[in-house]
Amino acid sequence: MLTIAIEAAKEAGKFLKYNVGRVKSIETKKGEERNLVSEIDKGSEERIISIIKRHYPHHAILAEESGASPDLSGSDYKWVIDPLDGTTNFLHGLPIFCVTIGIEYKGEIVAGVVYDPNLDELFTAEKGSGAFLNGKRLKVTSSSKLIDSLLVTGFPYDIAENPDNAIGHFVNFLMEARGIRRLGSAALDLSYVAAGRFDGFWEVNLNPWDMAAGILFVREAGGSVTDFAGSESTIYNKQVLATNGIIHDAMLTVLSKGFR
Ligand code: IPD
Ligand code: CA
Ligand code: CA
Repeated sequence: MLTIAIEAAKEAGKFLKYNVGRVKSIETKKGEERNLVSEIDKGSEERIISIIKRHYPHHAILAEESGASPDLSGSDYKWVIDPLDGTTNFLHGLPIFCVTIGIEYKGEIVAGVVYDPNLDELFTAEKGSGAFLNGKRLKVTSSSKLIDSLLVTGFPYDIAENPDNAIGHFVNFLMEARGIRRLGSAALDLSYVAAGRFDGFWEVNLNPWDMAAGILFVREAGGSVTDFAGSESTIYNKQVLATNGIIHDAMLTVLSKGFR
């Protein structure tokens, strides 16, 4: 299955890269003026699903643009797909975006892929076997203090209405960490925590497809992933805190402050 996920992610990734600057139609989603979707997001998803269906026609699918496959809800397997993570970057020609696919078995993510076509970086993991970047094993950092840590976050599209303290957390971490970045692709943020490029990542409102592969990468690379209360996270939680494990408690303490 991982081989098929890699094939689908690479094919979709090449399609995305080719289509930078060639987008014809941009729409908004859920009535949110910042939440955009193009025919390229949809075309990428169609390519991924057609490859999966060719090999596993009876597996369930949960994909950002076409939703869940209700007819296959009895399947033990579910492919969780974001055909373009980093849509805003993509639409602006900023080369920070990826394709991400997670494979769930009986409710648990057992394998995942993130493919970044701009850097030709392929992140992969199978549960219990480690996480890899282009075949090289990944390990989280060993930073133990926030002041030595480079953190990353993202903001929800409904930032103006979202009650979840996104701005408050951002300001609080600015005061504590060495630096903060906002890349615009949650799947890459998580992959980069696994790869030791960031020490920690938090975000207040994500969807399962943003995190399905990335959460597995962080855990397989030796890190921790929880909600903001410190409980073990699944891809169906909205909040996520993913770290090297060592700074996890310090980040939880900052998150508990909210706007204060
Ligand atoms: C978004 C990106 C972004 C995050 C948003 C996501 P999309 O996904 O992952 O980094 O801050 O919350 O919705 O819309 O580009 O697939
Ligand atoms: Ca996404
Ligand atoms: Ca997307």
